Amino acid sequence: MEDCTYVIFGATGNLSRIKLIPALYHLDAAGRLTDGMKVVGFGRRDWDDGAWRSQVRGWLAEKQTEADVLERFLARFHFCQGDLADEAAYPALREMLLGENDFSHNIVFYMAIRPAEFGKVSRKLGECGLAGEKGGWRRLVIEKPFGYDLESAESLNHSLSRDFRESQIYRIDHYLGKGTVQNVLVFRFANLMLEPLWNRNYIDHVQITHSESLGTEGRAGYYDGAGALRDMIQSHLLQVLTLVAMEPPANLDAESLRDEKVKVLRSIRPIPQSAVNAHAVRAQYTAGKINGEKVPGYLDEPDVPEHSVTETYAALKLFIDNWRWRNVPFFLRTGKRMAKGNSMVAIRFKHPPQQLFRETQIEQLEPNWILMNLQPNECIRMEMQVKQNGLEMRTETTRLDASYCGINPDQLDAYEALLLDVIEGDHSLFLRYDEVSWAWKVVDPILKVWSVERDYITGYNAGSWGPPEADRLFLRQDQYWRNTLDGNDEEAS
Ligand code: BG6
Repeated sequence: MEDCTYVIFGATGNLSRIKLIPALYHLDAAGRLTDGMKVVGFGRRDWDDGAWRSQVRGWLAEKQTEADVLERFLARFHFCQGDLADEAAYPALREMLLGENDFSHNIVFYMAIRPAEFGKVSRKLGECGLAGEKGGWRRLVIEKPFGYDLESAESLNHSLSRDFRESQIYRIDHYLGKGTVQNVLVFRFANLMLEPLWNRNYIDHVQITHSESLGTEGRAGYYDGAGALRDMIQSHLLQVLTLVAMEPPANLDAESLRDEKVKVLRSIRPIPQSAVNAHAVRAQYTAGKINGEKVPGYLDEPDVPEHSVTETYAALKLFIDNWRWRNVPFFLRTGKRMAKGNSMVAIRFKHPPQQLFRETQIEQLEPNWILMNLQPNECIRMEMQVKQNGLEMRTETTRLDASYCGINPDQLDAYEALLLDVIEGDHSLFLRYDEVSWAWKVVDPILKVWSVERDYITGYNAGSWGPPEADRLFLRQDQYWRNTLDGNDEEAS
């Protein structure tokens, strides 16, 4: 692996403290960083390298570290004092990176800053000659949200592309760094027995759920302007949908993989504004109980505007109009302050064509399900029917779990894999701009309608599984939500 210099803009912020620096430490501990790899923090504080290193040491004190690895790790850290808006800061950064120091000229610029600054900072990097790949490669990493809607996403992309080529831009969707999300691909494409069943002939519908028991956790300033549809569905859940629905790629290189994902997004049937209510449900949590503890409603959270109608829950019904999936509904759902924090893909199969057993109606026979739980437990489960004990020919459901089901103590944080991919120049788990833009096209009509209908939003109790209105998305009475691997209807109150 080549040496590189990781420059973090917003070095003293939360993302850097909670995710980036611990992930880099783990990579160092695992021997995945080269000796010449350096980390440059860029920030306003009046710090030198020593002060920055003590800050990082303080952050890592809460984690398990090994003394010798920690010293090696801290020695990589340097600080560049500057204000993002200050013209003079960039030539100084350039001097530090490309001047007489022994820093590698392969440089990653990580934007751990507000999205509104992405375009401005990339422009300044371009102007001071840090974007061009002279003497080494230059890579720009940005975090979602990539715009606020299709139009703003286009304008952000336009600003970035003035100075950086698409191949230099790494758009992180941290969901793609999760082990079980990648396992969706392995499960589908390394197992021959699934492929013949993976289509409209056998699958009744697909559910993708990300529920959280947490609220806005001090991020209401951002969240209230975004809402659940932008925050989770436009990005993470549509990404999971593409992996579940895509055709086998020609190979696993970044372009082949992303070409297939884009094909799925392009095939999603557009939702006309007149049909938004039939395809989407939004709601906001009211006061309730989570694990027996009372929690306030969204409107009583700090920094939430008094009459906010921002959705903290969103559910969608989408159809993918292609040969494999036509007329199979994909239900996507997410919410804050729900009964449990869990993420799961649930695939429900159709009923067999003939009823042979004692249950009187074919509908009484439980269908097969494949459940892929992404977090907190990683698990793949198949639910099948077997004969019940006894004289009657009755059926019951049995569960076949992959042996690794449970909490995996060695589970990598999503950021570890992704930060390493940036250094290695692997774009497979990063979004190409056309993916972002097609994903906005899916949700834009809904956002438009919701932005006009602003006088009322349905409520759901904190600690519940969301509003009963979400059931109206189903096509038939016998369709129902799968909430977690174990148990379905329990509320966490
Ligand atoms: C982030 C959203 O992208 O993903 C948050 O902005 C959400 O609102 C988070 O809580 C969920 O990701 P994870 O990995 O914590 O489950």
